[in-house]
Amino acid sequence: MSILIKNGRIITSSEDYHADIFIEGEEISAIGKNLNVTADEIIDANGLMIFPGGIDPHVHLDMPFMGTYSSDNYETGTLAALHGGTTMVIDFVLQTQGKSLHHALEQWQSRSNGNCYGDYSFHMAVTDFNEETKNEITQMVEEEGITSFKTFMAYKGALMIDDRQMVGLMQEVKKCGGMVTVHATNGDMIDFLIAKHRVEGKLSPLYHYLSQPEITEAEATGRFADMANYTGVTAYVVHMTCEGALNHIRDIERRNQKVYAETCIQYLILDASLYEKDFEGAKWVMSPPLRQKKDQETLWAGINQGTVQVVATDHCPFMWEQKLMGEKDFSKIPNGHPAIENRMELLFSEGVQKGRITLNKFVEVTSTNAAKIFGMFPRKGCIAVGSDADLVLFDPKEEHTLSVNTHHMHVDYSAYEGWEIKGRCKTTILRGQVAVDNGDVKIQKGFGQFIKRNKVTGII
Ligand code: URP
Ligand code: ZN
Ligand code: ZN
Repeated sequence: MSILIKNGRIITSSEDYHADIFIEGEEISAIGKNLNVTADEIIDANGLMIFPGGIDPHVHLDMPFMGTYSSDNYETGTLAALHGGTTMVIDFVLQTQGKSLHHALEQWQSRSNGNCYGDYSFHMAVTDFNEETKNEITQMVEEEGITSFKTFMAYKGALMIDDRQMVGLMQEVKKCGGMVTVHATNGDMIDFLIAKHRVEGKLSPLYHYLSQPEITEAEATGRFADMANYTGVTAYVVHMTCEGALNHIRDIERRNQKVYAETCIQYLILDASLYEKDFEGAKWVMSPPLRQKKDQETLWAGINQGTVQVVATDHCPFMWEQKLMGEKDFSKIPNGHPAIENRMELLFSEGVQKGRITLNKFVEVTSTNAAKIFGMFPRKGCIAVGSDADLVLFDPKEEHTLSVNTHHMHVDYSAYEGWEIKGRCKTTILRGQVAVDNGDVKIQKGFGQFIKRNKVTGII
C-alpha cells in the first residue's frame, strides 16, 4: 500500500515548507517537490498543514483508581486520540504494593493487548521499591522496552514511595539507562490538609484545590530535583502546574542537571476559579489542581524558554456518576479529567492562533520532544524519510466548537464545553494507514501496536 500526499505545508519542530510526501508501507519513503511516483492513493493536502502525529505521554486508560476505573478504555481512548491528531500515547502500569512489576505489567497487557486503535507504550509506576523490584528494572528496560519509571510522592498507602525508596530507585534506573518520572506533590502535607478540611466540614470541590496549595507541589518538585541531581539520573516531572515548581527546575538546571518538565493543556488555559461552581467543579477535580492566571503565564513562558518541554493531558476521565462518588466529600471524587482528543486542537487554537507559541514550538511540545525524551526518535515525532508515517493533516482555518455531543471520548461531559476552536484535525495517518478521515474511522481495533522504546540519553 502506498500513499502520495500532495501540496501540503509540512511543519516539523524546525522546518516549514511545501512538498509532497510519499508513503510506502508503514514508513515515509520520499519527500520532495512534485514527486513523480505512482501511488495506490493520492491525497490532496492543498491548504492544509501536515504535522508529525501527536504523542501524548501522559494518559490513564482503563485504570483502577480511587475505587473505580477511568471510563475510557484502550479502544475508546486511543480512537478518540486519533480523532484529535494523537497517534501514540504512553499509559501507566501501576505496581500493586507487595507485588512484582511483572505482575502489574501482565494485568495492563490483558486490558490493552489487541484493543488499541493507536500506538501505545507504558511507563512503569514503581510503588514499592525493594530488592525484588530492583531486579526487575533491567528486565523492563532490556526485554520489555519500558525505559521510564514513574513515581508518586503523594497518594500515601496506595502509590506513594518515600525518599529512601526514591533514591534507591534512581540509582538503579540510572545504571540501566532509564529515566525516573514523578508526580511531585507532598503527600503528607496534602493528607494533613484534607483531614483538616473534612473535620471542619469543608467538603465541596473547592477544598480539593485548597488542600493542594502551590507549596505542596513546589516543595516536592525541589526535593525530587535535588535527589535527581544527587544520583545523576535522567528525570522528568509530570503534570507541572505552577510557578513555584518550575522555579525549582530552573534552580537545578543552574547546576547542569537536566530535569524535564511536562505540563498539560488544562494548566495552560483553565484556572482555579472553576472550583467555585459548587459541585460542578468536580469536572476539574484533578491532582495537582488547576492554579492561578500567574501560573498559566509562567508555564507559557517556560515552554518558550525551553524549561517546559512537553504538553500532555493526564487524560483520566470519569463519568458524571463516578464523580458523584464524592458529592458529599471532595476527597472521594475520582481525580482526573478528559482531554486526549482535545489537546492538539486546543493548543493550536490557544497557543499558535493567539501568538503565544510558534508553529515549530507547537510540533516540538506535542510530538517531537516526547519522542526524543522517551526513546522513540526518529521513528516517531518527525516527518523524515524512514520515519513511521504518522501524520496529521490539519486545517488551520476551520472553526468549530468542542462539546460532549460531538467528542469521541467515553465520558458524558466535556471539560471544554462550548470552547471555540480555530483549527481542525482533518485526517490522521498512522503507520501509513489513513486511520481517521473527516471523522470516519478507517482502521480496525487492534491496529495500534505496543512500541518498545530505547534507552534514554537525557539529551534532546
Ligand atoms: O488527577 C489526576 N491527575 N488523576 C490521574 C492520576 C495522576 O495523579 O496522574
Ligand atoms: Zn499524577
Ligand atoms: Zn496522571
